[in-house]
Amino acid sequence: MLCETPEGKGIATGAALEQVGAGQVLVARGLVDAADCRLEMQQAWQSALVETLGAEQAARVPGPERVHEHVPLDEIGTLNDALYRAFESLCMPLATTMLRDVFGYRGLFFVEKRPNARLHVPFDLQAPARQTLVAYARKQGFGKISAHGPHRDHWLDCPHNCLNVWIALGRVRRGNGLSIYPGRLDDRIAHDKVGHVFRAQALGAPQNFELEPGDAVLFLGRHVHASEINATDETRAAVSFRLTLGRPRFVGPSSHQYRGSDGSERRGPRKSRWRRWAARIRPKPEPPSEAAPRPIETLRPGDVAAIGPDRCAARLADGRLVQFARRCPHEGADLAQGHLQGDSIVCPWHNLRFSAATGESPCRALTLPNVSPQSEEGPRA
Ligand code: FES
Ligand SMILES: [Fe+2]
Repeated sequence: MLCETPEGKGIATGAALEQVGAGQVLVARGLVDAADCRLEMQQAWQSALVETLGAEQAARVPGPERVHEHVPLDEIGTLNDALYRAFESLCMPLATTMLRDVFGYRGLFFVEKRPNARLHVPFDLQAPARQTLVAYARKQGFGKISAHGPHRDHWLDCPHNCLNVWIALGRVRRGNGLSIYPGRLDDRIAHDKVGHVFRAQALGAPQNFELEPGDAVLFLGRHVHASEINATDETRAAVSFRLTLGRPRFVGPSSHQYRGSDGSERRGPRKSRWRRWAARIRPKPEPPSEAAPRPIETLRPGDVAAIGPDRCAARLADGRLVQFARRCPHEGADLAQGHLQGDSIVCPWHNLRFSAATGESPCRALTLPNVSPQSEEGPRA
């Protein structure tokens, strides 16, 4: 198995957990194989398919990437629920072999009893199933079959010391995976009462990952992270669970339950016993004010900024200026907090790229309005 940073720098397996604990995001290539769980993972996927579609139809699904061609969109939640059930019994054995045999960890650990199953069909197919997606997010939380905005897990009633193991069941490509904002670990950042980051804050460019089935990303729940909107034509299938090295430290009331390697169980308190500590790590949920507009001529190459209450501008690397609407057409994120990637404007929320020339994105349904290239003297006709 190969452990590497998102930039591709190798990390010795024996040092991997320590590095993750110190805030390093880690890609563990071939983790499922190394933990000897590939067969069980494939069986879990297959049994979820059979439960949802029946054996005959399930046999026609070539892999998770094309599952949307075989499962009606409003049944995706049913399949995801079946995946939850199929994967639940796998977490503890997988965590045990992973921690002990692969990473050489010998201490006490706890594993979340209920893992997360995540099936994101291509965004352009989602429109007819919008109500189903919203209803499912209300029931199971965001990020399961629809994109989750930037958040930290411990704000969502998870232990402060939780570590995420995010495993690709099928192929994961840039544009349908996970975003982690490496610059936002442990600094104070404002969020609403359900744990979502307020939009008027700089998150910086996220790290994203290309994964093969059985690869995993390991990162602390204290990292700000989000789903990418699925801008590809493949379904992204992943499962994830949280674990803690040592006992879970809950910071507030929580319904999450953890099973220990010593057979004990821990659940979050119904009432916070650590209010003072929680108050230290939880910023006050007050929305910050949006960035004040800047004169357009102050933008340097690579800058994106608000130039008015509803208008943004960016200066591309070659010096050209472009103006565009300030709100992302997906969920209204403030593009003044976005960044440039080549000639694309990237939304800070779900990492969607918009062409600075046309406003088009890889999602046919989402185009950034009012994109207009501009000379220093003023907008072109
Ligand atoms: S991509 Fe979701 S709000 Fe912009
Ligand atoms: Fe999360």
